[in-house]
Amino acid sequence: MNRDSYDAIAQQWDETRVLLSDAEKRILDLVLEHAPAGANVLDLGCGTGRPIAEYLVSRKLHVTGVDQSAAMLQLARIRLPDQRWILSSLESFEPEGEFAAVIVWDSLFHIPRDEHAAILARVRSAMPLGSRIALTVGVPNIRRSPIPCSATLSSTIRILPTPRLLC
Ligand SMILES: C[S@@+](CC[C@H](N)C(=O)[O-])C[C@H]1O[C@@H](n2cnc3c(N)ncnc32)[C@H](O)[C@@H]1O
Repeated sequence: MNRDSYDAIAQQWDETRVLLSDAEKRILDLVLEHAPAGANVLDLGCGTGRPIAEYLVSRKLHVTGVDQSAAMLQLARIRLPDQRWILSSLESFEPEGEFAAVIVWDSLFHIPRDEHAAILARVRSAMPLGSRIALTVGVPNIRRSPIPCSATLSSTIRILPTPRLLC
């Protein structure tokens, strides 16, 4: 889906995407295992800030959320006004500072595969030793795949210089 599509469905998305699944919570807890209260977490393709940023804030973490959709981001700003919200495509986003954890949840697969390496390399540069990343990559890019931009997990692991993936 492109930016205009997410702008159009922002309210509807917000009303639907409310709770973390048990699996999502388990993964987030693993990724955040060593992130102390007050640490910075980067959420790429953060949507409306619910439920992921909301959960991060409940753990006393500081969120930097990045999204291309002004309407999705506006809802995040209203929900969590004390966090940092950046309107940007992931393709052009340059992280500043360091992050104890990075979340890329259900956003990377919207972007053509040949752009993943550059995005993840920039993110990697903002991850100090011990920082962890959680990302979804969608289904393999096979014929008739519903999401043609998706990567396979193995191709994503090859992209990351030092993989810190939790599957
Ligand atoms: C499926 S939603 C997931 C939102 C959130 N991560 C969650 O799990 O609820 C995908 C989000 O990624 C954003 N997105 C898609 N392509 C993007 C891009 N190229 N740059 C920045 N954000 C993008 C969309 O605007 C949308 O908010």
